[in-house]
Amino acid sequence: MEGTMPERIKLYYKNVTSDIIGPEHGITTRQLNQLAEKTIPLIGQLNEQRKQGKTPYRDLPYDEQAPVKIRKLAAELKDRCDNFVVLGIGGSALGNIALQTALNPYMHNLDDKQRKGARLFVFDNVDPAQFGSFLEWVSDKLDKTIFNVISKSGETAETASQFLIIRNMLLEKLGPDGFRNQTIATTDATGGTLRKIVNDTGLASLEVPQGVGGRFSVLSAVGLLSAAICGIDIDAILAGARDMDKRVSNTDFYKNPAAFNAAINYHYYNCGKRNSVMMPYCYALKDFADWYRQLWAESLGKAEDLAGNVVHIGPTPIKALGTTDQHSQVQLYRQGPNDKIFTFLEVENFSTGLKIGPSPDSAPELGYLAGADLGKLLNSEKIATEYALLQDKRPCLTVLFDRISPYTIGQFIYLFEVTTSFAGALFNINTYDQPAVELGKQATFALMGRKGFEEMAGKIQPYKKIDENYIV
Ligand code: PA5
Repeated sequence: MEGTMPERIKLYYKNVTSDIIGPEHGITTRQLNQLAEKTIPLIGQLNEQRKQGKTPYRDLPYDEQAPVKIRKLAAELKDRCDNFVVLGIGGSALGNIALQTALNPYMHNLDDKQRKGARLFVFDNVDPAQFGSFLEWVSDKLDKTIFNVISKSGETAETASQFLIIRNMLLEKLGPDGFRNQTIATTDATGGTLRKIVNDTGLASLEVPQGVGGRFSVLSAVGLLSAAICGIDIDAILAGARDMDKRVSNTDFYKNPAAFNAAINYHYYNCGKRNSVMMPYCYALKDFADWYRQLWAESLGKAEDLAGNVVHIGPTPIKALGTTDQHSQVQLYRQGPNDKIFTFLEVENFSTGLKIGPSPDSAPELGYLAGADLGKLLNSEKIATEYALLQDKRPCLTVLFDRISPYTIGQFIYLFEVTTSFAGALFNINTYDQPAVELGKQATFALMGRKGFEEMAGKIQPYKKIDENYIV
């Protein structure tokens, strides 16, 4: 793909400008120039940080060993893997789900004819009814099901509990060898409980690269093994990311889509538009809106800036899906508070052309639809919704895809990861930590009786008990 007319995704920004939505809500040329002035030094800064190894996620697309290992493991597992099950949460799950929805057919799991690899199931919750139903289904297919337990820390309670349930089931039904054959782990190279289990039991394993946080890890073994096993071309994903890397390293602000995207979002946050809606008009991209939600929220929602000032900063990411949410959210988006920036994801060519059937004689009023392409309807609805929003002076960006492919998806992932880094730099916060998530994790340990968390259990006690005086 590289070198031969690559398909490039593009960021379209005319509909955030004052020419379109007026100077109160639109960005003027002067403001854009000011944003450029503020952002240009950050391009150099991010490029430098990357050179110093401070943002190792940036180099994942260049790791030549990882895809080789992943493909080798995928080939080894193939014969005992009709079903591939990811046990993980947050950054250990969302990229797997997003890649599958984007790059495999909707009926992948159900239709053997459409399936190019294993079925995929991702469990990123501990709901007993949900998991129980799956266990019932899978219990007589265990010798053809691979479980990949993914946890960077190796400590997360949700993932650990799922793993213990599966381990028990496999040991009971298939014995220790069966457990080893059907389970793999993806975790830190050296630390954490999961790595200890790998070392003790001889489970096959892959590594979460050092210094790469969960939400930035989809281009590592975390996201790529399930993709490879499910028939997705992981080399093309990585090639797409490398292509985007050139663009987001460009020191020309006007040619750098990540710097530009971040600057526009930063501008609107400072103007009181603190909500950022990502709205794909393409089902395949639906779960990337979810992936983006975590990336944006965990990276940018911070109490303190880098100078230690209390700032409580962070735009709220919102996911929506066109056209579905036109009939759920657009009333609010148009007539509610003008406190949002919209990012549409638009695809010019869908993988399937589908003509709408003829209208019956009794309903000539449906004739306008007859014979039209369903994709044309979807894209017309995107333009219609954007037009309606613009009438109410709501700023709209669009990421344009020529088509969905592993190559364009690789670009999209990298674009939004680096956009997040630029946004973090503009907000002057630590983009890569998530201290507020940790407290909840530790409180769970305390509530479940983990040793060493007794003091926290005591602190939680007053909040745990239902106070009857406050029941309605
Ligand atoms: O992005 C993050 O760091 C988090 O969302 C983690 O991915 C999530 O909490 C799961 O953590 P772990 O992979 O350590 O189980």
